[in-house]
Amino acid sequence: MTFKKVDPTDINYFSGLLGPGNVLAEPSDLAAHSRDYTEDLCYYPEVVLKPGTREDVAAILMYCNSQNICVTPRGAGTGLSGGALPVMGGVSLSMVRFNKILEIDERNFQVHIEPGVINEALQNVLKEIGLFYPPDPASKGSCFLGGNVAHSSGGPRAVKYGTTRDYVLNLEVVLATGEILETGANTLKYSTGYNLTQLMIGSEGTLGVVTKMVLKVLPLPKNTLLLFAPFASPAKACEAVSGIFRAGANPSACEFIEPDGFRLAADLLNIPFPIADEVGAYLLIEVDGNDYQAMMNECETISEVLYNHQALDVLLAETAAQKEYYWKLRRSIGEATKHNNVYKEEDTVVPRAELPELFEGVKEIANRYGFRTICYGHAGDGNLHVNILKDQLSDDFWNTEINQAIIEIFELCKKLKGTISGEHGIGLVQQKFMSVVMPQFQLDLMKRIKEAFDPKGILNPGKIFN
Ligand code: LAC
Ligand code: ZN
Repeated sequence: MTFKKVDPTDINYFSGLLGPGNVLAEPSDLAAHSRDYTEDLCYYPEVVLKPGTREDVAAILMYCNSQNICVTPRGAGTGLSGGALPVMGGVSLSMVRFNKILEIDERNFQVHIEPGVINEALQNVLKEIGLFYPPDPASKGSCFLGGNVAHSSGGPRAVKYGTTRDYVLNLEVVLATGEILETGANTLKYSTGYNLTQLMIGSEGTLGVVTKMVLKVLPLPKNTLLLFAPFASPAKACEAVSGIFRAGANPSACEFIEPDGFRLAADLLNIPFPIADEVGAYLLIEVDGNDYQAMMNECETISEVLYNHQALDVLLAETAAQKEYYWKLRRSIGEATKHNNVYKEEDTVVPRAELPELFEGVKEIANRYGFRTICYGHAGDGNLHVNILKDQLSDDFWNTEINQAIIEIFELCKKLKGTISGEHGIGLVQQKFMSVVMPQFQLDLMKRIKEAFDPKGILNPGKIFN
C-alpha cells in the first residue's frame, strides 16, 4: 500500500482549515508523535493535525481520502500494541483538543464525553457526585477514553465490572469518507440491526474516528478493602484465583504479581517494598461495596481460600494510604519494566481456571528459549501480562527467533481456549500472530469489513492485518 506524501499544498489546506497553530510539522513535534508506549518503536508522521470539532475531522478525512494521504488517529499515546504509531507516515491525527465532558446525565446514569478526556479525570468528576465509571487501565492517569474505546481497555476492575466495551452506549464516528454517524442509541439495550457500536470498539482507529461517546455509569460503591497475599508457589497462587470465585466471592479486582514486578516498581517509585526470599508470587484482591460487614465477610471467605492454597500470609489493607501504596506499585509495573529494560508485553488471556496451566507453560517456554519473563496481571480475568525482557539477548534473537517462542505461548493460549490479547489490542506488534488464533478466511472477512468502512484504506494502515 502506498500513500501520497504530505506536501506544501496539503499543509496550506490544513492550516486554512484548523489554523496554523493546529498544524505541526517541526521535527520536535513529529518526534513527540513518533512513539507510543510500545517497546522502543518509533515511526515519524509527516504532519500532526489537531482538529477541534467533528466537522474538522470530517474535512480532514474527506481531504485525505481524496488525496490518498494516510491518517493515524492518536489519543494519549499510552498504547502497548503500537496502534498510534504512524507506520506509513502521513497524518498523525491528535485528539487532544477533544477534552470536554459535555454532559453528565444523572437522570439516565450516562455521560456524554469527548474522546480526549483522561480516564481518571472522568472518574474524579463522577466521584464528586457519587457516580462511578469502572474501567481503570493502569495508565488511567494519562490515557484517553477514546483510546480505551479503540482497544476496549480493561484494568483491574474488569473482573467484576467488565471492560470499556460494557460501558459504551453510543458513539459519534467520522468515517474515512467524511460522513458522520451515530453508531447506536443512548439506550441500555439495542437490537436494531448490526451493532456498529460494538464493532467500532476495539477497532483501533481502522474503521473511523470517534468524536463523541455516550458512556454508562454506575452508583459509586462507598468502600473498598484490599487483601494482599504472598505465596511460595506461583502455581498455587494461580489455582487460588478460581477457588475465590468458586467460593462465591465477587472481588472488584484479583491481580497476580511476580516478585520482580513489584521489585522494579518499588525501584522506579523509590519506595520500600520488602520481598522475602521464599515468596514466588503475590495476589492483590479488592472487594468493594456499601455494607462494611458484608465486605468483611467476603474478605473472610477469600482469606480462607487463600490459606487453603498455601498463602504464606494474608494482609488486610484498610486505610486509604495502605491501599494506595499497593495500587501505586501494581499500576507502575509496566512503566517500571520499560524503564529497566527493553521488553515485549504479551497480553495473554485464557478462561480463568486455565491460568495455572498458562503460567506454567509460559515459564517452560521461556526457560527452553532462554529468556526472562515477568508475569503479572488480571488473574481474575485469566488475563496474564507476560513481560519478556531483552536483557543480554542478541538483537538477532530479539527480532526474529523470539517470535517462535511467542507463537508457542499464543498456541498455548489457543489450546486453552483463550486468545492473544485481552485488553491491549493487536495494533502493529501482534498482527503477525493473528494467524495463530484465526484462519485466513476470518481475517479476510475482517478485511472486507474494513473495506466497507474505509474503501481506500487510509485509516491507520498497517495495523491488525498483515
Ligand atoms: C497493566 C497494563 C499493562 O495491567 O495493562 O498494568
Ligand atoms: Zn492490564
